[in-house]
Amino acid sequence: MDIELLTNDKNIIFIYVIFVGVVQDFSSLFSVDPFSVSCFAGAVGGAFGWGGMELSVVPLHNHPEYMMDCCRLINEEWKRSDTARLHSLQNSCDKLPTSLILLQGKNLIGHLKLSVIPSIKEACFVESVVIATSLRGKGYGTIFMRNAEEYCKKLNLSAIYLSTKGQEQFYSKLGYTECPPISIYGSYIPKSIAPQNVCNKQKDDTVKHVPPPPPLPISTTLKTKKTFMVKQLSSSATVTKI
Ligand SMILES: CC(C)(COP(=O)(O)OP(=O)(O)OC[C@H]1O[C@@H](n2cnc3c(N)ncnc32)[C@H](O)[C@@H]1OP(=O)(O)O)[C@@H](O)C(=O)NCCC(=O)NCCS
Repeated sequence: MDIELLTNDKNIIFIYVIFVGVVQDFSSLFSVDPFSVSCFAGAVGGAFGWGGMELSVVPLHNHPEYMMDCCRLINEEWKRSDTARLHSLQNSCDKLPTSLILLQGKNLIGHLKLSVIPSIKEACFVESVVIATSLRGKGYGTIFMRNAEEYCKKLNLSAIYLSTKGQEQFYSKLGYTECPPISIYGSYIPKSIAPQNVCNKQKDDTVKHVPPPPPLPISTTLKTKKTFMVKQLSSSATVTKI
């Protein structure tokens, strides 16, 4: 059974503690969510103010008991009706969209949502990233994002996109770089009939009768002054087992 602490570039130390078959019963504690990543803060965590509490990242839909807490956490940051928020959170599933939550012991302290990008099948869009107000600036956001990236790799996704207004520095420290705006709306248009290809092939008789794709939906995201960022997920593990 693996228990991990993670490290960011500065001073947060993630340590993987590996129990190989020694405490078999213990592993059942972590087998509920195949993608859950548990971070045992222990003594090291205590040194960084984590209070020695175990951190874990789990999909919300596997822990519906946190639905209301999660709704409150997000709505404290971005006001919306509980009904609308709960409706959105209840869509979380093993495929995208997925709401991941960060737990410290039994307390929910963070949320983020991974969504489909219709035009980029191999990537996802992370949004509604939030850490409980009183716990910000302690490295939890970094831990959470890194574990979310590991989760995405397990879904065979190769990149994560996001948009932000004001948190560029936080994301750039995590390796995200600015990119052109993307739309997270609309349905998937296969590359073979994507607009640019259709234009290029107009003169080709073989594709003359291919109907033009529907107009791309108007994206409110594209109208905003938000900064779009992307991170390519490397195949190498970012979390080192020791
Ligand atoms: C953005 C957020 C998730 C970051 O979580 P966090 O736990 O506070 O972040 P960390 O403590 O891991 O910070 C990591 C680094 O980013 C920096 N950072 C975090 N937020 C920052 C900000 N708003 N501006 C500049 N730097 C920031 C930290 O100083 C830290 O840098 P350091 O390693 O040099 O000390 C959290 O502040 C939050 O919930 N904010 C409100 C909601 C929000 O704006 N979400 C983002 C939507 S795009």
